[in-house]
Amino acid sequence: MADNRIGILFNSNMLRGLLRNKTGHEAIAFYEEAGRRHGVIPCFMRVEDVNVRKMEAVAYIRDGTGYARRRIPVPSVIHNRAIYFRSGAHARVQSMVNRGTVIFNQVNRYGKWKLHVLLQQDPALVPHLPVTAPARKGTVAAMMDNCGAVVLKPDNNSVGRGIMKLERSSTGWTIVYSRRTAGGARKWRKANLPGGRLPRFVLAQLRRTPYLVQELLPLARYHDRPFDLRVSVQRDGSREWQITGIVGRVAPQHTFVTNVAQGGTVHRLEELVAAALPHCSVAEVVERVSAFSLHIVNRLSHSLSHMADVGLDIGLTSDGKPLFIECNGRDQRYSFREAGLYDIWEATYFNPIAYGASFLQS
Ligand SMILES: Nc1ncnc2c1ncn2[C@@H]1O[C@H](COP(=O)(O)OP(=O)(O)O)[C@@H](O)[C@H]1O
Ligand SMILES: [Mg+2]
Repeated sequence: MADNRIGILFNSNMLRGLLRNKTGHEAIAFYEEAGRRHGVIPCFMRVEDVNVRKMEAVAYIRDGTGYARRRIPVPSVIHNRAIYFRSGAHARVQSMVNRGTVIFNQVNRYGKWKLHVLLQQDPALVPHLPVTAPARKGTVAAMMDNCGAVVLKPDNNSVGRGIMKLERSSTGWTIVYSRRTAGGARKWRKANLPGGRLPRFVLAQLRRTPYLVQELLPLARYHDRPFDLRVSVQRDGSREWQITGIVGRVAPQHTFVTNVAQGGTVHRLEELVAAALPHCSVAEVVERVSAFSLHIVNRLSHSLSHMADVGLDIGLTSDGKPLFIECNGRDQRYSFREAGLYDIWEATYFNPIAYGASFLQS
């Protein structure tokens, strides 16, 4: 009998959510619908529950209105939606791959510096990449001298956490950063840094975790707030990369970052182009951003194992030139839902399942 099971790897908290019907932003119903459409059965599982020696796993499979726990042979195709921070989990995933399992998005958290170095090897991309360096003593001041304004960002973090902006002022620099209040909530603040010296807490942060210093990109603005685009680039049933959708994200008033988790708001591209790039047509911007995004992903997927599904953060200058900000290996996908782009939101789930199904049917 042909194998028609597709594994979906979740972290523990997501799997607990699945059983309680509370998976936050992850739309479980779409996995099931996509499975029906492509003739495969989603088997939700955790890497901790895989017995690599026996190649068996405990998985949760839809059964009536709920999920039934089953012991099954490890599915031959697995869509990874988990992020692993422990080397043991990576080692287990690698052992499954070594035993012939197709795991796509096997690694889905890449250091920003590693990606920058890979992309910089392509001369056609260099004009679209912010000047970037690991933040070391001296590099911040040197970059401020060269660029006038920079961001400091953790090499391996997400949703806008830990990122800061430095700009020149008449007396030195100003900094925009977020810090916990006494009550524990995070709050964005702005401060003067007379003489252009970094405060102690920033120096401590730079020592604690690897940081990058990067030219502040001249992002186009919407109502005087910078915006960027989330571009979903996925392989579909044809196994080729294609653009699933593009949505805009505008920074809130209190900061420069557009992450929805930091208060950024989602907007359709039509609205942003009309307001911020009136001399460009939407079709032109879509074409340019799509070609650029495909170029980036083709480049990255030469070097990174089994990428199938990424969310790029792409900026635009006010002339409509695309700029690379970052590549997310586990796209959270829900900004499409927030923008009311339901078909695209659904497609972000259907494409990876179609891709996985293509390995089972060949
Ligand atoms: N070089 C830059 N210039 C201007 N804005 C930036 C720059 N880098 C990041 N940002 C802003 O900060 C946000 C978060 O940065 P990003 O590199 O995507 O890290 P994260 O992984 O935290 O999302 C971006 O979406 C963008 O709004
Ligand atoms: Mg980002």
